[in-house]
Amino acid sequence: MKVTPLMEQYLRIKEQYKDSILLFRLGDFYEAFFEDAKIVSKVLNIVLTRRQDAPMAGIPYHALNTYLKKLVEAGYKVAICDQMEEPSKSKKLIRREVTRVVTPGSIVEDEFLSETNNYMAVVSEEKGRYCTVFCDVSTGEVLVHESSDEQETLDLLKNYSISQIVCSEHLKSSLRERFPGVYTESISEWYFSDLEEVEKAYNLKDIHHFELSPLALKTLAALIKYVKYTMITEDLNLKPPLLISQRDYMILDSATVENLSLIPGDRGKNLFDVLNNTETPMGARLLKKWILHPLVDRKQIEERLEAVERLVNDRVSLEEMRNFLSNVRDVERIVSRVEYNRSVPRDLVALRETLEIIPKLNEILSNFGVFNKLAFPEELVDLLRRAIEDDPLGSPGEGKVIKRGFSPELDEYRDLLEHAEERLKEFEEKERERTGIQKLRVGYNQVFGYYIEVTKANLDKIPDDYERKQTLVNSERFITPELKEFETKIMAAKERIEEMEKELFKSVCEEVKKHKEVLLKLSEDLAKMDVLSTLAYDAILYNYTKPVFSEDRLEIKGGRHPVVERFTQNFVENDIYMDNEKRFVVITGPNMSGKSTFIRQVGLISLMAQIGSFVPAQKAILPVFDRIFTRMGARDDLAGGRSTFLVEMNEMALILLKSTEKSLVLLDEVGRGTSTQDGVSIAWAISEELIKRGCKVLFATHFTELTELEKHFPQVQNKTILVKEEGKNVIFTHKVVDGVADRSYGIEVAKIAGIPDRVINRAYEILERNFKNHTKKNGKSNRFSQQIPLFPV
Ligand SMILES: Nc1ncnc2c1ncn2[C@@H]1O[C@H](COP(=O)(O)OP(=O)(O)O)[C@@H](O)[C@H]1O
Ligand SMILES: [Mg+2]
Repeated sequence: MKVTPLMEQYLRIKEQYKDSILLFRLGDFYEAFFEDAKIVSKVLNIVLTRRQDAPMAGIPYHALNTYLKKLVEAGYKVAICDQMEEPSKSKKLIRREVTRVVTPGSIVEDEFLSETNNYMAVVSEEKGRYCTVFCDVSTGEVLVHESSDEQETLDLLKNYSISQIVCSEHLKSSLRERFPGVYTESISEWYFSDLEEVEKAYNLKDIHHFELSPLALKTLAALIKYVKYTMITEDLNLKPPLLISQRDYMILDSATVENLSLIPGDRGKNLFDVLNNTETPMGARLLKKWILHPLVDRKQIEERLEAVERLVNDRVSLEEMRNFLSNVRDVERIVSRVEYNRSVPRDLVALRETLEIIPKLNEILSNFGVFNKLAFPEELVDLLRRAIEDDPLGSPGEGKVIKRGFSPELDEYRDLLEHAEERLKEFEEKERERTGIQKLRVGYNQVFGYYIEVTKANLDKIPDDYERKQTLVNSERFITPELKEFETKIMAAKERIEEMEKELFKSVCEEVKKHKEVLLKLSEDLAKMDVLSTLAYDAILYNYTKPVFSEDRLEIKGGRHPVVERFTQNFVENDIYMDNEKRFVVITGPNMSGKSTFIRQVGLISLMAQIGSFVPAQKAILPVFDRIFTRMGARDDLAGGRSTFLVEMNEMALILLKSTEKSLVLLDEVGRGTSTQDGVSIAWAISEELIKRGCKVLFATHFTELTELEKHFPQVQNKTILVKEEGKNVIFTHKVVDGVADRSYGIEVAKIAGIPDRVINRAYEILERNFKNHTKKNGKSNRFSQQIPLFPV
């Protein structure tokens, strides 16, 4: 194959982007060649053609984003190669460059994104310490986490629903295994050097201002380089890194996030969806973060709660404020798009509309005394108002983006174009009169430009200055010097309009960039305002109360499960009291009576309080927990190849390792995955250990043996769920009371579940014959506790 200059150009560029699919702009298409073409044609279901023997597949340039989305979602990395100059007749080969590398985690375009954060994570490890830098390129957010605990790192990666992992080579295969659905890429070690990158990106004199460890700085440098590489720019839009550490936040393990159904996932109904009545995308994202990272500092928690309380107490202003917030747009992402030169005219309109709300919001804010006044960049609003059409059409350069009156020069050219039609009509009329050809027509086509068309019958009448341009079957087309001049002017005007509008749009974007700091602060303030006012709104809507904090008392009166109560009629309220003396609750009761709901509800109420939310209870006095641990339900870790029991014991091991006297531990049916004797024994031993530890524990179990703990440890209280028997029917009241479950009511539950009557009756028979006498007379629970040596603490 003879290599043309164009192909040579292609191959040279492809050489630099071997690991990506290269989309190469050729006129109105982005073309893929060779192996890339085969993939593109398969994934996008488009025809595979050939160009000089090379397999080729093309995408129309205006539909790029639609196709790009599919390629990226299918797990490919795509490099976009654009034409860097206007095609002209004189030059043969125009300059082409890659302007963008698209991966799942480096996306700023609205079409690709949902309202939620889109995080990529850069992960590194050195001598057993793990560092993860999370970045949402579309918002500029950067979060840094460092720990010697691999599990904590994995938990965070899971909780953040990352869309991409970038890591050092030696971590790649294990991370791939852990996160099979996530696009994972390794980068070479030199990415992790050059701390100047950090200084440059943040315009810092001294990187030590960030108070990050050397490992964290290196990882941050890698992130910066990677983002530069994908966005092909030196100007990044990154916010200062925020350190996530157990000192400031509760870092929840992923099991707890799942068990308590905190955020949307596979499990359906969740806390986030219940609380998320936010009005802005920034608010929704922040609320999720608050839920994933409850505070551990009492003062900070109380600050939030007080803000919420003030908002609750002025409902009129609250509603007004939320009304205004509902018109606030995604400023955070708009700023990012502007910064990366990927904004569309509508972004600037949305920005103006948002900014115009600020003065009104500021008026209301003074009513609460909670928020500082929002910054209002007046000149910017004024500029946007004057420069950008209220309802812009198309992209800059098509003439419908910059408002009339903004640039007299642009307007002049536009006038010229707009009057062109009229002028042509006039010209046509004049020519008809001059030649006496009534059927003379002035027209335009792409190839020949403007022309005068005369039918063959009238050819004898044409004047001398008509110059032949084109011959058709029944007519001929001509041009005159006047028409030629007219054409030149029109073409020049069109070109000028295109250039000028692009330039003007760019200059407005530059102005926006200059206000970046203000705008980012603004979006942060708006997000916080949105979340606090949403928590106030939720408090009113769902009838929540303000929790108060104490050293070690946990007292909930009339508590409810925030999620279950939304989907259950007549949800039954429950109380609980725990303190240092009484800190271990064993809950027994039949299946379906509400044990799991109850212990989760205690966890959720505590968690909500620590994010600064009011809580579903009549009264709540709570300790500030350093962490909430859960061990619940049967889950197989299929991907990890661990059995239910192994998963359970893994999670239990973590709790035993990490819980402190300030932790809340929720255990649901621990020990179920193995034989009864083993299960009870392990559950008992774990309980002893946790009682010694001093944490607060709620343990729901069907092992009645565990209720014997109460006899040996004064810290233990037994609770059960009241079951009423009315004749042959049992009623689950869902009421938590003191005591021990006397029966399991398994057969009754089976009946409620729809097992046929004849099977149910047979089960009663078997129960009667084989077990009744045995358990009544010498219950095995008694036997059990007599057999094990006990050392009360
Ligand atoms: N306090 C309550 N008020 C009303 N319904 C409840 C309550 N607690 C639980 N339920 C209902 O009972 C069902 C079973 O509860 P669950 O906590 O799973 O029981 P268990 O863990 O004892 O098997 C729940 O799905 C819910 O519909
Ligand atoms: Mg249960």
